[in-house]
Amino acid sequence: MARILITSAIPYINGIKHLGNLVGSQLPADLYARYMRMRGNEVMFICATDEHGTPAELAAAKAGKPVAEYCAEMHGVQAEIARGFRLSFDHFGRSSSARNHRLTQHFARRLGEQGLIAEVVEKQMFSRADDRFLPDRYIEGTCPNCGYDRARGDQCENCTKQLDPTDLINPRSAVSGSTDLELRETKHLYLRQRVLKERLAEWIDSKTGWPVLTTSIAKKWLNDGEGLQDRGITRDLAWGVPAQFAGAPWQGMEGKVFYVWFDAPIEYIAGTAEWADAHGLDDAAWERWWRTDKGAHDVTYVQFMGKDNVPFHTLSFPATIIGSDEPWKLVDYIKSFNYLNYDGGQFSTSQGRGVFMDQALSILPADYWRWWLLSHAPENSDSEFTWENFQASVNKDLADVLGNFVSRVTKFCRSKFGELVPEGGQTGERAAALIAELETRVRAYEGHMEAMEVRKAAAELRAIWVAGNEYLQSAAPWTVFKEDPERAAAMTRLGLNLVRLYAVLSEPFIPDASARMLAAMGTDDRSWPGPIAEALSVLPAGHAFETPEVLFRKIADEEREDWQKRFAGVRT
Ligand code: MF3
Ligand code: ZN
Repeated sequence: MARILITSAIPYINGIKHLGNLVGSQLPADLYARYMRMRGNEVMFICATDEHGTPAELAAAKAGKPVAEYCAEMHGVQAEIARGFRLSFDHFGRSSSARNHRLTQHFARRLGEQGLIAEVVEKQMFSRADDRFLPDRYIEGTCPNCGYDRARGDQCENCTKQLDPTDLINPRSAVSGSTDLELRETKHLYLRQRVLKERLAEWIDSKTGWPVLTTSIAKKWLNDGEGLQDRGITRDLAWGVPAQFAGAPWQGMEGKVFYVWFDAPIEYIAGTAEWADAHGLDDAAWERWWRTDKGAHDVTYVQFMGKDNVPFHTLSFPATIIGSDEPWKLVDYIKSFNYLNYDGGQFSTSQGRGVFMDQALSILPADYWRWWLLSHAPENSDSEFTWENFQASVNKDLADVLGNFVSRVTKFCRSKFGELVPEGGQTGERAAALIAELETRVRAYEGHMEAMEVRKAAAELRAIWVAGNEYLQSAAPWTVFKEDPERAAAMTRLGLNLVRLYAVLSEPFIPDASARMLAAMGTDDRSWPGPIAEALSVLPAGHAFETPEVLFRKIADEEREDWQKRFAGVRT
């Protein structure tokens, strides 16, 4: 049994995430967590809301609420939707927690003690109309890289280039729209990342098995242009982790907070501490996941995120960890994703384009979305959601293949033998061939799941379902029954056991259907298959089952057209 720590990039608190966000981090992380649990490993799966920084403040202002109140409310909303999608976090924390305040300040103090923090007096954009500094997203303008005219001070949403507020052309305040801006002096703390460059480069070079998407982005950031820069880790904002605290080795930071990207990844650790607190456990309980001197030396730590998050996880957060010179656990594997596009364009939160998580659940249950999203995960390139493709996948894979298989076996058995696993008889060569095929396919499926090859795993799982369907089709127990009811009984017994096996194998992808299949089979034996022949004799003759309701319904053309129209515009 291994110990596996899994984190998903923590979603910003402002607003509900779209399906592109979901498939880029939380959903594949959940797939992996569920699989690893099914295999009997000890898993700690942490996510949280990312509550600081300008996105939170701006959204709260827009909602006309105090930012703390807005965040508490939105955390509840996001937690509820996460449950709706069956995201199996061990804890869904908040980066604004007391734990994160303490840990963030702890890291800052340590970095200061290591001589890795510099105080820098710099010029920042100040809005006279708003009487405040305009860090990050408080400022908008034209991207110097691609010309997009709604680029934000921290990053251009169009070309993903990281920006500095002073880079923008024709800058304006995102609060008031005012262009009456000036550069004013203000003091900030900088993390001296350049000092750590060699150590970071060495660490990344040692990660030979990482996805190309991850290492190529990391190396680009390390080496491009002037290479890794020192970065400001404080901001002139009110909401956040105060940069002034007892024992802080620097002065004059009153009224400033740490930059959201400094405290957000630390929430992975703090979130695990929140988990311990929520369960009435002591510090040792979370430290054994995070402190290599306190038991975490044998933990495997995997992070999931979209490609825009990669620099922060390959460089910035490791700089915090390595720079602290304390034995914190560093990530072992970073699984990153490209973007999911929406019907010929991009999903966009700011423009309300695409399908958002709450809307998705209002049309269809989680499994339908989970299956489509995971089986089309943007792994090797961007991928695209279209309603036609969604309809086709659901109808074919879920309804025609898996759903139909379950329904045919159970209904046939009920009509001929009753709702008990029938006894007697021998299966034939076809069954032997099926078992041999499943032996190969299940082992391949395991390999893909372990390697986090999400699409390949989905394709293999689909093939496993198809194999059962084809067996049933060609063995045709309904025909055999007339001549040789004993043999038909053996085939049916095999079929019912396949339903249980499919429930177990499919759990990470479609947990609700899996639970229904197990319930219908009257078993809670979720043991992962060893030799397939054994796994197919778990339900003995005489075991009672129930014929389930339709597992997956088909999506009709009219429905699809209706949704297509409904989600063509922008969310208001
Ligand atoms: N909130 C960020 C986003 O949605 C992700 C933060 S990940 C963390 O892009 F590492 F900072 F936690
Ligand atoms: Zn741009």
